[in-house]
Amino acid sequence: MQRTIGDRTIRWREGGEAQRGVLVLIHAFPLSSAMWESQVDAFAGWRVVCPDLRGFRGPDGPAAEHPGDPTMDEYAIDVEHVLDALDVPQAVIGGLSMGGYVTFALFRRAPARCRGLILADTRATADSEEGRQGRRRMLHLVDEQGASAIADDMLPKLLGATTRREQPLVEQQVRRMIEANSPDAIRAAVTAMMTRPDSTTLVGSIRCPTLIVAGDEDTLTPVSASHEMQQGIRGASLVTLPRAGHLSSLERPAEFNAAVGRFLGALSK
Ligand code: MLT
Repeated sequence: MQRTIGDRTIRWREGGEAQRGVLVLIHAFPLSSAMWESQVDAFAGWRVVCPDLRGFRGPDGPAAEHPGDPTMDEYAIDVEHVLDALDVPQAVIGGLSMGGYVTFALFRRAPARCRGLILADTRATADSEEGRQGRRRMLHLVDEQGASAIADDMLPKLLGATTRREQPLVEQQVRRMIEANSPDAIRAAVTAMMTRPDSTTLVGSIRCPTLIVAGDEDTLTPVSASHEMQQGIRGASLVTLPRAGHLSSLERPAEFNAAVGRFLGALSK
């Protein structure tokens, strides 16, 4: 699906029917809505809407537009535009890693639009100075060598040790998703991530039902970051997925979907 808003086209993939509600799932860096293939039709009674953030595209998607220089807030505004285009006033908003940063930005801007939150393999803190240095190295890498060098660099961090050992097809699939993206989209997202605000104070103001999911082999966002978020969010539940790394929804889709399904079931009682 796509809509033209102003001079830009926003794309998303979707599935399911909205008898119980709408679930938005926002992808990680440097992937696309393609990462939610196992989720898009998985929740009976829920319409699942997965936007492609500016400039990102799936391996089979149409050519993406130049992203410009978006901030995390501008990515969130795009998600709001998708909800407006679909005439959805309120939805469960979920994101994995960078998708979680966008979820925080959306909650900061429009808390009333959030019926619930799903925060997967993400963190509320901003980048540390060491983290920003890593981002600068990544900018250099993408400028010099393009998306496949980013795939080489990121894959060992994105996937858990068990997945890398036992699921070579998942690794190939994630590589294809990364390599489908333009250096411009990757550069823009790295810049948006390194300049994102800290959301630890915001976390304390979350009052809607919240599910936190973490792969127990996630080295990019260790489970301790999820525990910290859980302590800050009143009533939040935390599900740790065994044998999953950072891309827990892709590495352990059945277990991830079971956790999300239980959360959505409790919401729609
Ligand atoms: C992601 O998976 O979205 C990224 O690892 C997030 C980050 O680098 O902070």
